[in-house]
Amino acid sequence: MARDTWLITGASAGLGALFAERAAAAGNDVILVARRAERLEALATRIASTGVSAHVIACDLGAAGSVPELMREIAARGLTVNTLANNAGLGVRGALSDSDGAVQAAMIDLNCRALVELTHAVLPGMVAKRRGGILNIASTAAFQPGPGMAVYYATKAFVLSFSEALHEEVRGQGVRVTALCPGPTRTEFAGIAGMGSSGFFEKNAADAETVVRDGMAALAQGRAIKVAGARNAAMAGSVRLLPRGVARRISAHVQRLLAG
Ligand SMILES: NC(=O)c1ccc[n+]([C@@H]2O[C@H](COP(=O)([O-])OP(=O)(O)OC[C@H]3O[C@@H](n4cnc5c(N)ncnc54)[C@H](OP(=O)(O)O)[C@@H]3O)[C@@H](O)[C@H]2O)c1
Repeated sequence: MARDTWLITGASAGLGALFAERAAAAGNDVILVARRAERLEALATRIASTGVSAHVIACDLGAAGSVPELMREIAARGLTVNTLANNAGLGVRGALSDSDGAVQAAMIDLNCRALVELTHAVLPGMVAKRRGGILNIASTAAFQPGPGMAVYYATKAFVLSFSEALHEEVRGQGVRVTALCPGPTRTEFAGIAGMGSSGFFEKNAADAETVVRDGMAALAQGRAIKVAGARNAAMAGSVRLLPRGVARRISAHVQRLLAG
């Protein structure tokens, strides 16, 4: 198998750290991106001991101009990205009217703007070489509106729509684009989003290992969308059959349960 270089955002924790470990275990070099440099360095040291190269670039992807700067640093190190895992993401819970507008905007910047900018930066090279993969981490939140977490759900609907469209745009050009849609998953995400104390979340959460395995397999198979977990897939499918008014009320109820 050809050795690829994976660029993984949000590699300091949760799904991103596992994507990095699994990509490296498959013999690929990795570029690890997140804000917490010391965590990335520790992961890179572990990964490098297995014989692949692990590069650390600490970066706040929510900051304007961060992606061009990151891409300049990647080029300066002589690296070429063959696979991009757009994984960094942030969830913020609570009614929009009570929320901090700057935090909501930062979430859109990270979950949507940075993801598009990174994709835009690497895609032309992949198309030119007729080789590459982009794995965008959406969510089961992408399939219906999320009262109580409105902006987060909307960002994930954006990621799903964007990824599906790109999947078709590059069809037949040797590049795979996959949207991975996890349901609740045990990482640092729930604590940051303010739903860590919910017994409902814990009871329904998948382990990160399974989600990462599903995502990597779906990308390798060239699938457009992968909903992680059979129950999540059934729920995402059933939403399409429900009247939208019913779907959004159920979603509001689930949000209240997740909030604990
Ligand atoms: N866990 C779930 O229940 C769940 C469900 C569905 C979808 N997802 C999605 O899965 C993806 C991964 O989430 P996770 O569960 O692994 O969450 P996590 O454990 O909280 O990890 C999030 C990662 O994103 C990075 N990050 C956050 N803000 C950043 C910024 N401004 N710039 C650069 N990196 C940033 C964090 O690193 P630093 O703090 O070091 O920057 C961290 O490495 C996200 O897109 C999330 O929306 C998660």
